[in-house]
Amino acid sequence: MPKRVQDALDAWGEGAKVFSLIRDPKVLRSLSPSAIRGLVLKRGKQGPTASMPAQHAALFQWGYHRDQPEMAELYRRAKANQWDSDDMPWQLDVDLEDPTTAVVPVDFLDWDLARSCGIHLDERERGRLLRDFGAWALSQFLHGEQGALYAAAQVTEAVEFYDGKLYGATQVMDEARHVETFSRYLQTKVGKLYPVQDNLYTIIDALMTDGRWDIKFLGMQIMIEGLALGAFGIMYRRTNEPLIREILKNVIRDEARHVHYGVVALREHIKGLTERERNEREDWAFQVAMLMRNRWLAYEIYEEWFVGTISRDKWRQFILNAPGAAEFRALMFSRLIPNLREIGLLTPRIQPAYEKAGLMRFFEGPAANRLGERELLS
Ligand SMILES: [Fe+2]
Ligand SMILES: [Fe+2]
Repeated sequence: MPKRVQDALDAWGEGAKVFSLIRDPKVLRSLSPSAIRGLVLKRGKQGPTASMPAQHAALFQWGYHRDQPEMAELYRRAKANQWDSDDMPWQLDVDLEDPTTAVVPVDFLDWDLARSCGIHLDERERGRLLRDFGAWALSQFLHGEQGALYAAAQVTEAVEFYDGKLYGATQVMDEARHVETFSRYLQTKVGKLYPVQDNLYTIIDALMTDGRWDIKFLGMQIMIEGLALGAFGIMYRRTNEPLIREILKNVIRDEARHVHYGVVALREHIKGLTERERNEREDWAFQVAMLMRNRWLAYEIYEEWFVGTISRDKWRQFILNAPGAAEFRALMFSRLIPNLREIGLLTPRIQPAYEKAGLMRFFEGPAANRLGERELLS
């Protein structure tokens, strides 16, 4: 069979697998339209813009009573810790092909495994591949930040807490600054921008179009922000490139507040839900966690570099077994699982499912509201 036909079939099979993973019919109903738009129709790659219809209600508070001291404290801290992207050391030269300053380090990939998967590159080509990986990761950060900007705006309108609305406005500003900063880095230092990855598009679409503010929160503040904190943390720890380190240090501080806010808002809200409503959210979170687990496969790089040379399956083996990918999964779930526990969405009812997925080892970790800056940046 020609390689391209094989690749097309493989992509369809993978899309179908996503649907088969979702067992709960209510979750399937709420995620399917987004999965079709993201994974099948590939809306994120169909042009320079994409529109996602919103269905939530803007909730007005006429009493203006301070109702959540922990959110009020986060609001105070957010106002005091604003920073300006223009103050970053933009004058520094950046060379992402140099292994000593690449944003994705050379040991992120396993080069023996690469050879056994049919990838044969000399040293210069490896440098270029690592540069492209860096550009790909930073592009996904940027697209995720754009999603965070609009989701934060929606949640600011919809959230039921007055202090949450004030705090939410600071998050909108933070996310705008993150979009500004990552796009400036990509434009002026990297010169390359990859399109949004299909899974990321799907999750963003699902939370932007769901009318329930707590699902938006769960999707953005807990799942995507938790994922982002893991990814930013790895890059910050592993790269020696001084400009991106300075940017990430500032972004991580902001994101830590965002996840903290998500934990506080959802913890209070979920206490008031019926058992049925809580079970639905618990299942939704589990399914989205499963969708995120093995799906950061950088096919956009495969398509650019290796299509027609090696199969998608070989590429998948190469990426899934890369040392950096294992590190990323572990850090992502070490952030996510304790937060789900803290908000009340990891009850004994769902724990066997997480156990089966090998994720209960993260259960006892500290949730975002107890994580200090030192832990996040070490
Ligand atoms: Fe952000
Ligand atoms: Fe954020």
